[in-house]
Amino acid sequence: MTPANPFEALPIAQMMRDSMWAYPIVETIHIVGFVLLVGSVVMFDLRVLGLSKNIPVRGLSRHLLPWSLLGLALIVPTGSLMFMAHATDFLGNGAFQLKMGLLMAAGINAAIFRSGPYQTVSRWDVATRSPLAAQASVAASIVIWIAIIGCGRLLAYT
Ligand code: HEM
Repeated sequence: MTPANPFEALPIAQMMRDSMWAYPIVETIHIVGFVLLVGSVVMFDLRVLGLSKNIPVRGLSRHLLPWSLLGLALIVPTGSLMFMAHATDFLGNGAFQLKMGLLMAAGINAAIFRSGPYQTVSRWDVATRSPLAAQASVAASIVIWIAIIGCGRLLAYT
């Protein structure tokens, strides 16, 4: 049968469907990726919310950001491979659509945080309460990332 979506016809998508090992290996790397990404993001967010106030926010950000980026570098290609294998199903799946929308919201929220409240971080780097706008943004970040994990998990059941 001819696949309905051009992505599904690609040889790599075919391989993802035919191989017994490809899908579980790629999915495991996807999981390692989001553990790194969400783990590092939430550790940073909790610091901005006021936990471990003596750890400098800027130092923590410099330490965690490369791990977040490494996580992202694992997530995007593996997520895309799994998507290509069953593109038609995923495109029509509400949990997948919501997950992609939430990913965009997470990106926009991070951009607003970096270009807004984070610009004044030198004033609240250590042992000081962060501004309300910063706290609101990182609280939203935690909720959005957990919702993304929930949507990812739902894909197996919807
Ligand atoms: C470009 C971005 C992404 C794409 C295209 C993508 C796509 C996918 C696809 C197609 C699946 C397979 C579902 C299945 O076969 O049952 C999946 C699983 C999953 N994804 Fe993503 N994903 C992306 C990013 C993320 C991110 C950022 C997170 C977490 C923050 C995440 C969390 C999950 C979870 C929890 C699963 C289920 C794993 C499991 O049940 O074993 N994904 N993703």
